[in-house]
Amino acid sequence: MRIIRDVAEMQALGQSLRGHEVGFVPTMGYLHRGHTSLMELTRPLCEHLVVSIYVNPLQFAPTDDLARYPRDLIGDATKCEAAGVDFLFIPEGFYPATFRTQVIVSGVTSRWEGAERPGHFAGVSTVVSRLFGVVQPTVGCFGEKDFQQLTVIRSMTRDLALPIRILSGPLVRDDDGLALSSRNVYLTPEQRVRARCLHRALFAVRDAPAHLPAGERLALGVAMVDSDKLDYLAIVDSESLEPLPDGLPVDRSARVIVTARYGNVRLLDNVAIEAAPEASP
Ligand code: PAF
Repeated sequence: MRIIRDVAEMQALGQSLRGHEVGFVPTMGYLHRGHTSLMELTRPLCEHLVVSIYVNPLQFAPTDDLARYPRDLIGDATKCEAAGVDFLFIPEGFYPATFRTQVIVSGVTSRWEGAERPGHFAGVSTVVSRLFGVVQPTVGCFGEKDFQQLTVIRSMTRDLALPIRILSGPLVRDDDGLALSSRNVYLTPEQRVRARCLHRALFAVRDAPAHLPAGERLALGVAMVDSDKLDYLAIVDSESLEPLPDGLPVDRSARVIVTARYGNVRLLDNVAIEAAPEASP
């Protein structure tokens, strides 16, 4: 595995790999099994696999503690090597001093994380666009854990006609059911035990009787959440991310999404509700 820190060197390498299948998994490091599962998904589909580690300042609000984001470059490099990564891109000085572009995806960014963290998705789509331009992958792989981010990146790639296939990898849970996240390291043992309610609430909403209106399903889930603050628990259309009407049963493929706070740690989780099969005549 080759480690690349220079942006121009990475771009020249991307250029030299033209005509080959190049898989790309962008990350912010502090890698866990969720990240390595994306590498394992992409590896067999590509001749070359690139992973990036870059804690992107553009996607953090001034009140978020960017400096506090966990880092473990040595551990990360070992995990990448074991997952068969060919090139590990850890850019230094990723944005030139003259950088003045923002990539803004509208619509799917207006609610949920977009409303809770103004500017966050502009930061994500901007860094991912620039990473795509530098690495020049044919396949980009993102986790379903950040379901709204995945939707934003799919929209951006389609709208800008970028010749990149976007793959997604399923969310990975720890043994206690908690969705893996680099931020879990900040939970106290007591918070971590309380946070188990999140996936249980999601599963309860998913597994509720199909005839129940969405609002009643959600009420079941909300009653199960024990957090310091529930930012949202919602059933959304899996394409538009618009909430489904409270008064009607869930009649299409949907996603149950939740974000809750434990102290100043925000945890995100989600689960799919598959569309009920058409009743046979
Ligand atoms: O999901 C992440 O780790 C980040 O948002 C990403 C996609 C690497 C962009 O900084």
